[in-house]
Amino acid sequence: MSNKIIIAIDGTSSTGKSTIAKRLAIRLKYVYIDSGAMYRALTFYAIQKEYISKTHFESNKLINDIPNIYIDFKQNKETNKFEVHLNGVSVEKHIRSLSVSNLVSKIASIGKLRKPMVKIQHFLGSNKGVVMDGRDIGTVVFPNAELKFYLDASSELRAKRRFKELVDANHDISYNEVLNNIILRDKQDISRKNSPLRVASDSIVIKTDDISLDQLENKLFSYVTPLLSKK
Ligand code: CDP
Repeated sequence: MSNKIIIAIDGTSSTGKSTIAKRLAIRLKYVYIDSGAMYRALTFYAIQKEYISKTHFESNKLINDIPNIYIDFKQNKETNKFEVHLNGVSVEKHIRSLSVSNLVSKIASIGKLRKPMVKIQHFLGSNKGVVMDGRDIGTVVFPNAELKFYLDASSELRAKRRFKELVDANHDISYNEVLNNIILRDKQDISRKNSPLRVASDSIVIKTDDISLDQLENKLFSYVTPLLSKK
């Protein structure tokens, strides 16, 4: 039987983590978990409840609601893609909007909100055979993950990529809005007290500026293969 591992992919915003994590998961027949989608779903909930806006954040109200907020991933039968569900309903279509992107890092900075998300992430990774991407997967969620990657690229390139993705998905957005959001989120994610974005000491750091997705996939996969044949 093959030796299942946990692959953690962390890094700054829009470095291609989720695209490459999905590709690895398909190739390995592993489960892909987008941990950022969980924080985005929580943010979407808080916006709907009017607990958070550009000008205010009632974190205690959101913390009090946690026992009634259920976040999980289910496969869409039409597209076969795994989508994040909030209290039983797919919120995948709503969580990539700029209104969520602009507030998610505030929500993700609260330790009492991170804790229940990490609990779900631990559960999802309990049988291994998982590729999970995020900000703290290799440092906090799975510090013993067999393989850790940290992806980074210039802000301008990341903004260009994300802008194209959003325009392709019919979002009405400007390049500058995307760039500003990326810069702000990175700053918030790196400087927060709880589980800040850090390079784990045993992470393989990869710059994704001058590399195609196929090259990146093959590069990451070259680290995976030797681990699968071990034991
Ligand atoms: O895809 P993108 O790089 O834009 O970000 P994401 O993975 O969807 O994550 C959205 C936000 O959630 C990040 O900017 C972080 O503030 C937060 N996050 C986190 O704090 N910890 C994680 N493990 C994943 C995301």
